[in-house]
Formats: sequence, C-alpha cells, structure tokens
Amino acid sequence: MKKIMILILNLMLVSMINGEKYEIAVIPKGSSQMFWKYVEEGAVKAGKELGVDVTFRGPRYENNTESQIKLMEMYIRKGVDAIVLAPNQKKALSYVVKEAVDNKIKVIVIDSELAGDYYESFIATDNFDAGKKAGEKLAEMIDYKGKVGLIRFKKGNASTDMREEGFMEAMEELGIEVAVDEYGGATLGKSNRRSIEILNKNPDLKGIFTPNESLTEGMAKAINSLGLNEKITLMGFDFNQGIEKGIVNGSIDSVVVQQPILMGYLGVKTAFEVLQGKEVDKRVVVDISFFPENQE
Ligand code: BDR
Repeated sequence: MKKIMILILNLMLVSMINGEKYEIAVIPKGSSQMFWKYVEEGAVKAGKELGVDVTFRGPRYENNTESQIKLMEMYIRKGVDAIVLAPNQKKALSYVVKEAVDNKIKVIVIDSELAGDYYESFIATDNFDAGKKAGEKLAEMIDYKGKVGLIRFKKGNASTDMREEGFMEAMEELGIEVAVDEYGGATLGKSNRRSIEILNKNPDLKGIFTPNESLTEGMAKAINSLGLNEKITLMGFDFNQGIEKGIVNGSIDSVVVQQPILMGYLGVKTAFEVLQGKEVDKRVVVDISFFPENQE
C-alpha cells in the first residue's frame, strides 16, 4: 500500500512540476440513474487523489446519444487532456471518439463497448458472462421449469445488448422457453408502464430477467402493484433505493451487482497513467456479485 501511495505522490509531483493540472472529462451514459452517481463518486475520488481536474457531465437519460456526441464535441473544442466515456450507443459514438483521438485527446471507455479501436483502455463488467450467469441463476430459482421473459433495454446499447445475449445463451443451453422477448423502454416511467402491460398479457410467466437499473426497478414496481411478488421470480441488475425496496418486499429475488465506483475510479486513474506515458491494459474486467448472495 505504501509503495502505491509513494507512486501516486510521485506521479502527482511530476504532473505539478510540469505545471500541468490535467483536465479529464467523464461522460456517463446518463445521469439520473444511481449507477452513474456511483461512477461519479469513483471518478471524483481518483481526481482528488491524483491532483487532476475532473468534470462529470452526461445526458439525463441513457437513450440520448445526440447529447453525448455534443458533449464530446464540446470537450474536443475545449482541448481537454483526456475523456472517460461510457458510450450509450456502440457505433454512433465511434466517429466523434476518433475525432478526439485525432485531436491528441486520450480516450478511455468504461461500462459499455465502443466499436472501433480508438481508445486506450476498456474498463467494464464482462457483460455477456454476467447476463449468462444471471440466466443460470434465474433458471435455478424457478427450478428449471416454466416460461420466462426477457425485457430488453435499447438496441445498440452494448452493455445491455451483451447481457441479453448471454441470458439467451443460458436459456438455450438449459432448454427454458423464453415466452416474452421485448424492449421495456429506456426510462423508469416507461419501463414500469411496459412491465404492467407485459405482465397483464402474460399471466403464465414464472421468471423475468431485466438487464439494468431502470428496467429492474420498473418491473419490480409493476410486480408489486399487481400483487405478483410470490408468483413471479425477478432476476435484475444493479442497485438503488427502489431496487432495495423490491428485494425487501419480495418483488425482486436477486440482482447482479456491479462495481460502478471502481469503474469511475479506474477510468480516471487509467487516463492519468496514459497521460504520464505509462503502459495500460487494453481490457480491464471489473467483477460482479449477486445480491442477496445465497437464497435458501
Ligand atoms: C446501467 O446501464 C448500464 O450501462 C450500466 O452498466 C448499468 O447496468 C445503468 O443504468
């Protein structure tokens, strides 16, 4: 630990001596979800420790790709030293990231894959594997019997696309029928309304997988409002107060928990190391866990 602190202090000293306080912009997918508030907490912590200027600014909703592109263009014009980006569309952000790189701005990608190779490092959950493990857990919780539903987020949003693919592979391997495979909407309000419709239309569903925070919270509220807590097994993703409430009232049976604070911290730390000319790993996998851990 002492060695790390000495290294960080040295790195800080070097950056001070060069008289440059690096400017690192962090652009999350959205900002209204708890997940991104945790990412911000980690990014700001790293900025303080390393003595760099961190700005954190993203669209309110995760489906607003135009806003993310506009932020990228603003930071390119501003001439920041590095950008840490969680792209809310895998392909649509590629061009403007290449523009940043062509303008000598270092780019680190976190949380969700970006098409192309215009970044120094990609720091995220292994989303395919996490989706597959979630599927296997849901199957176990329904005793491998009955029909399930997959509520998708938004095509092109790489993190949830990969979870959905991993989930479908698990259902295929375990021979479990996916009777519902639909998009649930990109905001809490929309996902709650769609969830109520889906539950009313499919009374025989035994299990459901929701691959992110807003879909999980929206479905949990729907299950609880329809009094289906004991009937439906919900396997979700992420954690916030609404999801905690769902676990307590039984509308949620398990969630995959990621490490957003670590993702934000490593995003800024890796950007700093690249600016210092250090070698960094191209791909960093951040581990997940399940909550509650072991169901009896
Ligand atoms: C969710 O969106 C995903 O990209 C994050 O990993 C998280 O699961 C936050 O809304």
